[in-house]
Amino acid sequence: MSLKQKIKELQKKREEVFSGGGEKAVEKQAAMGKMTARARILELLDKDSFQEYDLFVEHEARDFNMDKKTLHGDGVIIGIGKIYGAPVCIYAQDFTVAGGSLGLMHSRKITKIMDHAMKMRVPLIGINDSGGARVQEGVNSLAGYGEIFFRNTLASGVIPQISVILGPCAGGAVYSPALTDFVFVVDNISKMFITGPEVIKTVLGEEISMEALGGAKVHCETTGNAHFFSESETECFDQIKKLITYIPWNNTKKAKPFPTKKPKKDYKIESIVPGDPKQPYDIINVIRAITDNSEFFEIQELWAKNIVIGFGRMNGETVGFVANQPLVLAGVLDVDSSDKAARFIRYCDAFNIPIVTLVDLPGYLPGIDQEHAGVIRHGAKILYAYSEATVPKITVILRKAYGGGYIAMNSRHLHADFVFAWPGAEIAVMGPEGAANIIFRREISGAENPEEMRKLKIKEYKDKFANPYVAAAKGYVDSVIEPKETRNFILQSIEVSSDKVAERPKKKHGIPPF
Ligand code: HXC
Repeated sequence: MSLKQKIKELQKKREEVFSGGGEKAVEKQAAMGKMTARARILELLDKDSFQEYDLFVEHEARDFNMDKKTLHGDGVIIGIGKIYGAPVCIYAQDFTVAGGSLGLMHSRKITKIMDHAMKMRVPLIGINDSGGARVQEGVNSLAGYGEIFFRNTLASGVIPQISVILGPCAGGAVYSPALTDFVFVVDNISKMFITGPEVIKTVLGEEISMEALGGAKVHCETTGNAHFFSESETECFDQIKKLITYIPWNNTKKAKPFPTKKPKKDYKIESIVPGDPKQPYDIINVIRAITDNSEFFEIQELWAKNIVIGFGRMNGETVGFVANQPLVLAGVLDVDSSDKAARFIRYCDAFNIPIVTLVDLPGYLPGIDQEHAGVIRHGAKILYAYSEATVPKITVILRKAYGGGYIAMNSRHLHADFVFAWPGAEIAVMGPEGAANIIFRREISGAENPEEMRKLKIKEYKDKFANPYVAAAKGYVDSVIEPKETRNFILQSIEVSSDKVAERPKKKHGIPPF
């Protein structure tokens, strides 16, 4: 055979594999509103950048008639490519081939590209669309999952790991995405659950649809398992591309800088925060008043909305924002918001991203529900995360900073590098009303007019403590600043921290409260 003929043979072989699970299965995939695995990769990556590996891998299963089946690529595509010129390793499960189920060789392909990503220190993107462990391959499938989980864990904090759920992700399969940094879901397409509707019906006698059990909205709004929601696969890929621009390739690098652009004039920082500490406002407007070009890329936008997390840029450098959201539950810390913030703080710390914390909260949420849901354990996560973090940590107290909430939100006492407060900041053990009721209880109840006396005592407490100057007098606040000075103070703090050295005691690892 001449080389020319051999090239033709290769092309034919490739085309066969490219046909996936065959015409019918591809049609079924399209009918479900889903792209094929290969189309997904090609749409996500830069044009002509994808290089595929292990195209001709074959499964080795022999039981249950498997010896008679050809499963192209064993139901998964792996390779390398680029996003905006940045290299990534990628895999995509092909649902048209045996439901994208995970057999031994399928898992070996995935672990191969994971090892590659770790060796080359580049981000890993996994597109999940699978019926889970390939039932015919028994324990070999389970072994495959275990090897993936192990690698997800080792890669955690070394390279960015992104999971995209574009179909079912059932059974133990969900734990790989759960171990990764960011999970993307698409409405009506993503389904994630440990036990499916049929099992639930058999065991519990309850009927539930897959969508209601573990659809995209459920994981964005209720469980917090997913970080980014979109209406279509194309929108989802755009979000992934955007995320990639904000994060570094690995934990030894910084995110690529962007050209600096001043915040837009529409965001007037002086007039966003109302003077009355009980009046709500949207904290995102404050973030946009500070960031380059007023851009903010929010993460977990639909879950635990009382805290806002996400990326912005300051003088072109990626910055992680953590901010209480007075629009929701007055911005309190609770079980979910602590969890959400803590994980994000650890992400920023692992990937050399400075953290800016904007504070306006009345404290931790009181109540039996929160206590019994473990607000002590979950609330401790945020303290741990801030204390552990050694990236530049800058705090701006905008208004209320009461009690444990004040300490938790990257206070000086958790070793923030810079703490600034606006003149309207109120830094106290609790709100003036609660404080007056406790310390002046006798005077209030013994007064001729208790209501008058209460008001008087509230004012007395407020005048004494509900301001930033007591904390500033102790050096807990470095500077009381005007709102319009905020961007410059943050910029200078980041600049001066670019070679920050912060030592932590040597240990194998800490034992955070999770
Ligand atoms: C082998 C599978 C499979 C699996 C699907 N297929 N899941 N083959 N093992 N786990 C095959 C189907 O037999 C079918 O093959 C093709 O893929 C398409 O599947 P359909 O059922 O026709 O598709 P659809 O109607 O869209 O339903 C998709 C589905 C359903 C909801 C995912 O297939 C399903 O419920 N699968 C089982 C899900 C599950 O319970 N997985 C958990 C396994 S245990 P043909 O040849 O007919 O086209 C597990 C534990 C791991 O994962 C633990 C790790 C720690």
